[in-house]
Amino acid sequence: MERAVSPGSTATIDSMSNVGTFLDKSLLPNALHILGEAGSLAAGKNSSGATTAYLVGGPVRDLLLGVQSRDFDIAVDADGPTFAAELAGKIRGEVTFRSEFGTAKIAAAGLVIDITMIRSETYAEPGALPLVQPGTLEDDLARRDFTINAMAVDLTPGRWGELTDQHGGQRDIVLKTIKSLHPGSFSDDPTRMLRAIRYESRFGFKMDPKTLTSMTESAGSLAKVSPFRRLAELRLIFGEETTVDILEHAEERDLLAGIHPALRISRQALNKFDSAPDSLSNEERQTYYMALIGSALTQGEAESLSRDLELSSDWSGALLSGPKFKGVAGILDRSDLKPSEVVELLAPFPVVALEAQLQLAPPLLRRDRLSAYLTDYQHSKPELNGDDLLALGVPQGPLVGKLIAELKVGRLDKTILSRFEEEAHVKRRLPMLT
Ligand code: CTP
Repeated sequence: MERAVSPGSTATIDSMSNVGTFLDKSLLPNALHILGEAGSLAAGKNSSGATTAYLVGGPVRDLLLGVQSRDFDIAVDADGPTFAAELAGKIRGEVTFRSEFGTAKIAAAGLVIDITMIRSETYAEPGALPLVQPGTLEDDLARRDFTINAMAVDLTPGRWGELTDQHGGQRDIVLKTIKSLHPGSFSDDPTRMLRAIRYESRFGFKMDPKTLTSMTESAGSLAKVSPFRRLAELRLIFGEETTVDILEHAEERDLLAGIHPALRISRQALNKFDSAPDSLSNEERQTYYMALIGSALTQGEAESLSRDLELSSDWSGALLSGPKFKGVAGILDRSDLKPSEVVELLAPFPVVALEAQLQLAPPLLRRDRLSAYLTDYQHSKPELNGDDLLALGVPQGPLVGKLIAELKVGRLDKTILSRFEEEAHVKRRLPMLT
């Protein structure tokens, strides 16, 4: 069949039946080597009894879109962990995860390879985890979320690159459309609604009209999903480059409240998502998002969100900082506040939460104080350390900490300006304290 799409272009609507040359040309050499080894292992004698191996789901979609994957999903007609153990040995990888449901993960050459057993899935009730059974490739593709994620590429040497696309995945890539495989897809797994919005935003695609209708009808069912899975979806949204766009779409479609009823994101907070300081790591940036969200919540809402979704201490601390900061914001505007008092007020907050508050602050004194705290005050410390104090005759024990704290206050408020003045302070205070 004709070549349909080339990496980075989606010009024609013809479909391909073999993407072998695509694989050869587009994949990085390490990825190509690993996929080749997986196909050869399945086609030859192997301990799991596998006879075929397919590249499935997201990496096939990314291949056709011209996007480099670092995550490769391979499906085999055998037990995933057994196959993974043997493959890991051949590609000098390490099995980092294995489950009783026939799945395993390998880390190799900077890539992640997920091995699953080709399976069928049925849902006992909406939102529940699926019941998994061995199945055919057709079953395995039919259980998936969207047409663009329901394609498979054969990796075995004789059939290298043969594409199975029974749901119109190539067509929908060309049409830039997110389309569910069947009308019950969102009620089977309501997290797919959030996945749809992520893909829509990540790839600049549009929702197929029937899929959108089904989303409108199913929005309320997200609440049936376990808190763990709802939180996992929020993390995935935070991990995308287009987080703001995704959150806006999720809000428009009533899906944020499905993650948690208290999850409201103010326009003001959303406007600041992209202002996260460049110095933040990926993890810290996500914590910063939580702090922005917390700024619009009441204490009760932040507590229930944190408790119900079992947030990590970092996320919970950031979220709860929002309502807590409301209690100190007014004090920070007082003109008679000394730097040491600013430190006393702000030191209990996580730094990343203060970064968020700085972005949100109106042009009042509080903004200057937040900025001074973050750039200067929080790093201020006396020149003398504990050993220096002992050398000056301070007895070991709590007095050392007390005097260090006094020196810190003196340095912040500029009543102590040098090492000499620090020593003088210690010598003056010591007789009063002992
Ligand atoms: N899948 C699904 N329903 C879900 C989650 C996953 O049908 N709720 C299927 C899709 O076919 C998907 C595959 O499982 O392609 C793997 O899921 P995942 O790794 O989450 O997604 P990827 O497609 O790899 O996409 P991403 O780039 O977002 O990781």
